[in-house]
Amino acid sequence: MSNLQNYYREHYWAPFTQMGDLSDKEPLVVVSGEGATVTTEDAQTYIDVHGALWLANIGYGRREVADAVYEQMKRLSWFPSFDGMSNDAALQLAHRLIQLTKQENMNRVFFSSGGSEANEAAIKMARQYWRLKGKTGKYKVVSRNRAYHGVSMGALSATGIAENRQHFEPLVPGFRHIEAPYCYRCPYGLDLADCGLACARELERTLQFEGPDTVAAFIGEPVMGAGGMLVPPDGYWQEIQRICRAYDVLIIADEVVTAFGRTGEMFGARHWDLVPDIMVFAKALTSGYQPLGATLVNESIYEPYIGKYGEGKEFLHGTTYAGHPAACAAAQVNLDIIEREGLVEQARDKGQYLLEGLNDLRDLPVVGDVDAKGLMARLEIVRDKDSKTSFPADARTGPGVSEKLLEHNIILRPLGDTLTFSPPLVIDKTQIDRIIGALREILGALS
Ligand SMILES: Cc1ncc(COP(=O)(O)O)c(C=O)c1O
Repeated sequence: MSNLQNYYREHYWAPFTQMGDLSDKEPLVVVSGEGATVTTEDAQTYIDVHGALWLANIGYGRREVADAVYEQMKRLSWFPSFDGMSNDAALQLAHRLIQLTKQENMNRVFFSSGGSEANEAAIKMARQYWRLKGKTGKYKVVSRNRAYHGVSMGALSATGIAENRQHFEPLVPGFRHIEAPYCYRCPYGLDLADCGLACARELERTLQFEGPDTVAAFIGEPVMGAGGMLVPPDGYWQEIQRICRAYDVLIIADEVVTAFGRTGEMFGARHWDLVPDIMVFAKALTSGYQPLGATLVNESIYEPYIGKYGEGKEFLHGTTYAGHPAACAAAQVNLDIIEREGLVEQARDKGQYLLEGLNDLRDLPVVGDVDAKGLMARLEIVRDKDSKTSFPADARTGPGVSEKLLEHNIILRPLGDTLTFSPPLVIDKTQIDRIIGALREILGALS
């Protein structure tokens, strides 16, 4: 056990981790990264299929990002954006994000330091928007079971993963959840061929039940991440959009995972012609080189906030480091690289290659479901394919597979028995071949 591993065991408290589990296991301490790989302190190099929490889009070791952050910090380490002041890096990035989201009619950018904060801002913006429009009772937010929107109390209240929520109740009032588009295990027991998009239509029933005059917004990830990398069927988002428009409910697209190329489009919403009122970014906005979140709105959401001092219309929300110049400098170069190297197209092409590789594994008895959108993919392990019966939860099959993958120098994060794939978009096809080869061996042995 190295010094660093001892520090982990003795002093560290890691997020979303049962620390007791690690008492007989050595923590993996990463010290460097290059492309789609990371290297540990004992000089083992791993392919990062996980993409470091689904975000390392441009890959590791980009010196030009580090240089831009260094130059920025030498020139201006930090300056806030409260009270009519700001810094040049934040304003430049805001301008660029608006150019990038012309198709969605976004026109204002509100910065924060990560995805939870950016969703928190989105939810508050939607609530205050309706108050400013004189509809004070329109405050509820509809979300989905299995959704992950973050850990702060508002974002957590929108989250639909029971285990994440239950220890922190009571949560914020006014959140409702509908079923997720989990077609492999349809919550209604229907087949996609003739389900009539029941999961999307549930939104309409929910709005009628709650009273549309009480609902401010619907929030959803274009492709669900932590809920199991769930790609919605075609027509799903179109139907959600139709319903939201019919009942005057705002649409918040939580693009924290899906934005900036991950799904083979610049933004996940574009696969289904979704035009949200509010878009939420974080993660690949900087590919992890700096922490940054952004909440974008169109002009009609912003407009009611405008008035004179004393009218009480301003958005009294914001975190100290919103629009941090070093993070904004990192985001600029990150976006340069995504555009220059055609990483959105690369995600589409390599995503198809990965999907074909995963589909080839379907001959194994334990491979239940495979699906992908760009380089965001899932493989669900089952004990019995015909009945879709899972292994018992305490067998910890998914985590077992991921431990075996470590022996092949591959880092992959399972969600229960669903293996998730979200590698840096710069991963190459030989690395994808290695992943598929290792999975064939491990899942074959499991079969
Ligand atoms: C879709 C989605 N929204 C929000 C968040 C929260 O982001 P953060 O962890 O930066 O607060 C995450 C994190 O994984 C996410 O996947």
